[in-house]
Amino acid sequence: MEILSTVLLMLVALKTTSAQACSAEDFACSNGQCISITNVCDGVQHCSDNSDETRCAQIDMEECPPLYTNVSGRCLHIDIVTGTWFEMHYRCREIGGVMVEVDDANFFYDLVNVLKQQFASNTKNFWIGGQKPAGLESSYVWNTTGTFIAMGSPFWAVYDSGSSTGDYSQEPMESAEAQYVYLNKDRFLYFSAGDAVGVADASVVCQLA
Ligand SMILES: *[C@@H]1O[C@H](CO)[C@@H](O)[C@H](O)[C@H]1NC(C)=O
Ligand SMILES: *[C@@H]1O[C@H](CO)[C@@H](O)[C@H](O)[C@H]1NC(C)=O
Repeated sequence: MEILSTVLLMLVALKTTSAQACSAEDFACSNGQCISITNVCDGVQHCSDNSDETRCAQIDMEECPPLYTNVSGRCLHIDIVTGTWFEMHYRCREIGGVMVEVDDANFFYDLVNVLKQQFASNTKNFWIGGQKPAGLESSYVWNTTGTFIAMGSPFWAVYDSGSSTGDYSQEPMESAEAQYVYLNKDRFLYFSAGDAVGVADASVVCQLA
């Protein structure tokens, strides 16, 4: 008798679940709710648990090859291994990429937001593909294209030149060692320049070549 009532209860539970299955034209929310398939990933919440909008980022990511994710329309690889600028340069090459070129303010904003989400605030520096060309004093170029990196806002961290009048500027420190560009964790991930080996805890952001 005991067993029979347990089985009956299970059948009732099964029936309740299947009664809630959605039709072929419907999308099943994670909570069992059914909504029209046309309402999925349209930027508006239709499931009360928002599950119609939460997997859309993953769908975008699937357009990039393995190891890469879509950030603002570019396929990026955000590495966790740390090393020198050169090691990270070859790290990107190994996976069919190059060090990222951050040449657009909107892209910079999106990238920094992704890095902040993935690395609980600012815990890591990230090398990017900027370097000082031989013979040029205070200019930096992108390694991939050889084009000059824009100075000042919104890319570069504020640097106090140390003058008594308080001379702050958004540009790399003038130093012979500051050869390579990275997103500086101590400066809210704005650009800084450092020597190839001296920047600690630095990983890399690669983009698909
Ligand atoms: C990346 O996502 C955007 C939408 O944010 C989409 O328009 C684009 O096609 C995607 N690109 C790739 C390569 O996955
Ligand atoms: C990019 O960096 C590598 C490694 O330092 C170097 O061999 C290559 O010449 C650089 N590319 C350009 C365009 O400067």
